Amino acid sequence: MGIRFGGDYNPEQWPEEVWAQDLELMKAAHVTMVTAGIFSWAKVEPRPGEWDFGWFDRVLDGLAGAGIEVCLATMTASPPPWLSRAHPEILPEGPDGQRRWPGARQHFCPSSPVFRAHAVRLVEQLATRYADHPALAMWHVGNEYGCHTRQCFCEVSAQDFRRWLRERYGTVAALNDAWSTSFWSQAYGDFAEVLPPRTAPTFANPAQQLDYLRFGDQALKDCYLAERAVLDRLAPGVPVTTNLMPQHKPVDAFGWAPSMDVVALDFYQDPYVPDDHVRAGYVFDLMRSARGGQPWLLLEQAAGAVNWRRRNGPKPPGAMRLWSWQAVAQGADAVLFFQWRQSRGGAEKFHSAMLPHGGTDTRIFREVCELGRELAAVPGIEGTRSRASVALLADWQSWWALELDSRPSAALDHSHSALAHYRPLFEAGVACDVVPPDRDLTPYPMVVVPNLYLLTADHAARLAAYVRGGGHLVVSFFSGIVDACDRVHPGGYPGPLRELLGLRVAEFWPLAEGASVAVGGAGAHGGRADLWTEEIVPAGAEVVARFLDGELAGRPAVTRHDYGRGTAWYLGTRLEPALLRALLDDVRAAAGVAPVLPRLPAGVQATVREGAGGRYVFLLNHGCRAVEVPLPEPLRDALAPRAAAVTRVELAARGVAVLTGPGPEGGGGAAG
Ligand code: GLA
Repeated sequence: MGIRFGGDYNPEQWPEEVWAQDLELMKAAHVTMVTAGIFSWAKVEPRPGEWDFGWFDRVLDGLAGAGIEVCLATMTASPPPWLSRAHPEILPEGPDGQRRWPGARQHFCPSSPVFRAHAVRLVEQLATRYADHPALAMWHVGNEYGCHTRQCFCEVSAQDFRRWLRERYGTVAALNDAWSTSFWSQAYGDFAEVLPPRTAPTFANPAQQLDYLRFGDQALKDCYLAERAVLDRLAPGVPVTTNLMPQHKPVDAFGWAPSMDVVALDFYQDPYVPDDHVRAGYVFDLMRSARGGQPWLLLEQAAGAVNWRRRNGPKPPGAMRLWSWQAVAQGADAVLFFQWRQSRGGAEKFHSAMLPHGGTDTRIFREVCELGRELAAVPGIEGTRSRASVALLADWQSWWALELDSRPSAALDHSHSALAHYRPLFEAGVACDVVPPDRDLTPYPMVVVPNLYLLTADHAARLAAYVRGGGHLVVSFFSGIVDACDRVHPGGYPGPLRELLGLRVAEFWPLAEGASVAVGGAGAHGGRADLWTEEIVPAGAEVVARFLDGELAGRPAVTRHDYGRGTAWYLGTRLEPALLRALLDDVRAAAGVAPVLPRLPAGVQATVREGAGGRYVFLLNHGCRAVEVPLPEPLRDALAPRAAAVTRVELAARGVAVLTGPGPEGGGGAAG
């Protein structure tokens, strides 16, 4: 089937006569898959228990007739007005006790048994009716869980939270211990006294907040699992997915991935952020890593502008193609858009679509058709995989904890830090995986740990074992500080990492806003650092660079510790980008980590996907100048399969090249 291509299809916005035209134009655009029915609940069940599936049958039959696969939504992302009128208790509440009213979407409390019962009832209807429909290729459960309603603080949620806490801790004494409630007179005598962390006079108990984030994620996952159970029972064997947004905080993509058959992503690059493709790169690598390298689906992106930023830039010519191929280059087996036909009315009418208001004679539609044609021309990419030599650690538990209130600095930001550490690797053309701390790290010669504030002793022991076995580890400041209950590890910072790093941190010294310090020293790369400094006391580690001014002048800023057969580097400050790059280059050299292609011009991304049939090399020019890329071996152009093999490639600004060569087993070139 090849890389799937298409978008969200919301035909209920249009009279039926438009649907036939949709099918014709989808064929012209080489659409092979649509996600249908995402917001169709009110139309298939206009009144309680009154089903109207006839129109949807015709939609699915038409798609099947056109040879277009359907990723069929369970339609539960926006409950119909009659449901919230009959059961206002399904509406979510904010931390301030304010109800979130219907009128948009996702207006349900994830813990509501009433909402879940109605959702299950709907999914039973859908699964029974469409399990054997020829168009059905996979199920799309809900939609962007946690996008709008991240957590609910209502009384139903409070009860569900207490149940969750009982399961987690067993006794109220264990809960008190985990939450350090002996401070500020917070000790509970009974689970019944426990509340969600609603708006309070000042900082709510951090362990309570952390658990509420865990619970919120679980409550959303329970909604997903309840629907999935129906699908497994009534439509066994059909793959199940939901569209994740790992760039958002509430849903732990690593935690959800095992319960999905294939992971799917919604990602909207911002054309007005000059290097947003680096952020995309991080998220794409995370998606590919979520199920151990299994290809993933780009389920939503925009064909042009979105409508939800303050200023919504269109995608300039070639950008949509380039960023779509970027997803494929980083492991996607599907490129879909929100949405097929641009809405005339409603909240998203100024959001671009594959078929714009202006119709077929538009740049966007032409670019969409051209991309569909190109993707169809290279069917062999589907299912191929990549190998990474560097792993970046990411962990939702730590993200949640790091950004709670009452920290040494409120300026620490997980996403910013993850990207800062990822960027130099991306720009050096190194293949990265983004993995959780319980993943096997032995395949990676180098591992980078951005501020992993919450680190269990168990995960720290895995890092130590990795280095002892010969790994090269880079750890940034404010890592390994607290346990799973946001309690400081005993014995001084950074508790479980002290021996591995060969140091202790005596005192944190976060910098004032706008302040920076000089870092360098004999034989060291020199430059500036900001955000954070700290008093490092080496205990076996050698000093790589020192603070050159400020209160900590002369003290270590960067250290290196040979440990077992490997080495652990430690950064006690936020190095400016060039300095971090130089340091990571040194670590890469020590670890023997090479870029995917040598001599890659600046701004060009190179990735490799391979499978039994062959190898695909993707070259993506994110720069605004044409460049020439030398190839280490002759490769054929997969987009012009009759052309001879080449040893250099001309890439226009925003240009893409897809090249093929023999596979790992020496299998033939896979151009199709
Ligand atoms: C999300 C939703 C879609 C649509 C797009 C617009 O991804 O899932 O329904 O609202 O945003 O960008």
